[in-house]
Amino acid sequence: MIRRILNLGIRTIASHIPPSGLKSRLYGWSGIRVGKKVHISPGVYIADGYRNNLVELQNQCVLSPYVVLVPSSHPNTSFIAEKWQVSKRAKITIGSGAWVGAGAVILPGVTVGEGAIIGANAVVRSDVEPYEIAAGVPATRVGDVRDKPKVQS
Ligand SMILES: CC(C)(COP(=O)(O)OP(=O)(O)OC[C@H]1O[C@@H](n2cnc3c(N)ncnc32)[C@H](O)[C@@H]1OP(=O)(O)O)[C@@H](O)C(=O)NCCC(=O)NCCS
Repeated sequence: MIRRILNLGIRTIASHIPPSGLKSRLYGWSGIRVGKKVHISPGVYIADGYRNNLVELQNQCVLSPYVVLVPSSHPNTSFIAEKWQVSKRAKITIGSGAWVGAGAVILPGVTVGEGAIIGANAVVRSDVEPYEIAAGVPATRVGDVRDKPKVQS
């Protein structure tokens, strides 16, 4: 319980800092596994109840503004949760280099593969393959990053 309160305090500070190494480091100290050069935009919300290790953000992944990660869908205050098994808790992993578009919601247990892209406002309820582009509600495959033209250097 003390750990969760500590996580809440650190996370609250982190959420008010512009995207930076410090912001990512503070998220890392608030119970989330955060890799190198991770970009966490303003308005991102992580509904893990401030528990440890329910979210892993691998190297160089990007969470766009207002992304919501929900590893723990646990309606604490609703009487239905006492009667029926409606809550779920499972780790979310955002793979290396993956890019989650603005306003997307990632549900419990989902792994977004390395280099995948999630469209704006998607609701992702199952795993996304590496380099897949997934969008919509619920999110489905709409393309593959590797089919895009290469950037000319
Ligand atoms: C998902 C995304 C990357 C796809 O881009 P794209 O590869 O150029 O794809 P297209 O625009 O060619 O669309 C491909 C199909 O996916 C659909 N699609 C694309 N984005 C979608 C979205 N966000 N929600 C639902 N469907 C979407 C298109 O309607 C199209 O469907 P169709 O083939 O039936 O016509 C882009 O649309 C997107 O949502 N980017 C996120 C931007 C963002 O949040 N940026 C934050 C910056 S901080």
